[in-house]
Amino acid sequence: MTMTYKNILSAKEEVSAKSGINIGIVTLNRPTVLNALNHELMEELVTALEEFDRDDSVRAIVLTGSERAFAAGADIKEMSDETTVSIMLKDRFATWDRIKNIKKPIIAAISGYALGGGCELTMMCDIIIASESAQFGQPEINIGVIPGAGGTQRMTRVLGKYKAMELILTGRPLLAREAYELGLVNKVVPVELYLEEAKAMAKEIAGKSPIAVRLAKEAVLKSFDGPLNEGLQFERKNFYMLFSSEDQKEGMKAFLEKRKATFTGK
Ligand code: HXC
Repeated sequence: MTMTYKNILSAKEEVSAKSGINIGIVTLNRPTVLNALNHELMEELVTALEEFDRDDSVRAIVLTGSERAFAAGADIKEMSDETTVSIMLKDRFATWDRIKNIKKPIIAAISGYALGGGCELTMMCDIIIASESAQFGQPEINIGVIPGAGGTQRMTRVLGKYKAMELILTGRPLLAREAYELGLVNKVVPVELYLEEAKAMAKEIAGKSPIAVRLAKEAVLKSFDGPLNEGLQFERKNFYMLFSSEDQKEGMKAFLEKRKATFTGK
């Protein structure tokens, strides 16, 4: 089923002609407000991601915005009149939490502003490709709040205490090159190429065993999200579990027979 959205675009792209294997592409699309993340947009985004997650033909997802802005943050207009009680009762983060449950890899293709909630949404993705014009930051301090969608946690884990503290307390953004040097992004490419580069990465991953990709993502996140020993046990369990899949048999056999493996996800 193809849904029509107001604030995002959702499309599938075939990995190669007649392969039947696709990547999904979700584009944030509120250009007049630099893709500010209001509740309606977030609901649409999560619906589109979940739809791709259920679609067996889709093996990886690219999440992007426009050249000028991935997203300049949560929608300040929507939040400005909230009180502690009203914002708590609305429980908007329930929508954000659903992104954590997406099983397929999400590759962020970022150009321009990735600020506040836009930076936090980027850090919820699994791989980040940036254009030379990208900038990442948590400027909430400038409007009297703090990051609320994981910024203090995820940024600190990636950048370490001191750099994260500097960015969160000053609100100053990191430019693409600096973000790359600090390990916040995988790759920086010229503006004309960031989307293509992200799609190429998604298509490369789409050629792997979907079940192995799913369990690998789950295991990497376990290491990131929890204590190391728990992560190591989890990784080992997933590693053992793959030995009951046809893809493990086929993958290892193909290697030994010096041919390309054909994966079925079984
Ligand atoms: C609502 C926004 C917005 C936002 C930009 N706009 N960011 N509207 N929420 N987060 C709107 C502007 O009001 C303006 O609308 C239009 O988009 C273009 O923006 P300009 O400011 O005119 O553009 P420019 O001068 O190029 O400056 C770009 C910018 C600046 C540096 C990115 O817009 C900016 O500082 N934005 C806010 C960034 C921020 O504080 N983000 C954190 C939000 S809090 P009009 O109608 O005037 O044309 C947050 C908390 C997350 O994210 C918590 C978890 C969800």
